[in-house]
Amino acid sequence: MNSDTPAPRRFLVVHGPNLNMLGVREPAVYGHDTLEEVNRRLQAWADAVPPEVGAVALRIAQSNHEGAIIDAIQDALGWADGIVINPGALAHYSYAVRDAVAAVGLPTVEVHLSNIHAREPFRHTSVIAPVCRGQICGFGWYGYVLALEALLRT
Ligand code: DQA
Repeated sequence: MNSDTPAPRRFLVVHGPNLNMLGVREPAVYGHDTLEEVNRRLQAWADAVPPEVGAVALRIAQSNHEGAIIDAIQDALGWADGIVINPGALAHYSYAVRDAVAAVGLPTVEVHLSNIHAREPFRHTSVIAPVCRGQICGFGWYGYVLALEALLRT
């Protein structure tokens, strides 16, 4: 690699509880794409980042367990340049996930497939968003791409 080649960037993408059910789960809200399809598109996005912007490597994880999500966030401190997280319902109440994001201090973007602000009142609050660079919601799977672009380019 010469000095004109930007260093490769590494991002963790975390999908929280119930996102493994995409495609089956409330398709009117979350769409018909499976998580596998979403992840394939994210990898395709990473592969298509122009070389002058730099190589992007993704690690993608999903868990239904708060502790496993916290472990993944903590582990990212050793290797990642940023985190994209859809915490699922944990967004609305998990101070532990919030503290993990704050503890590692990596630039983090919160993503929701649906527009949480247009849904039930309990979804309007995220306890995690205040420790993130920003929040993207309401754009379906493309929100993950927007979040990755934001981490890559800002
Ligand atoms: C979600 C929104 C949350 O309120 C919900 O609990 C989810 C999915 C979304 O992606 O829109 O599990 O995070």
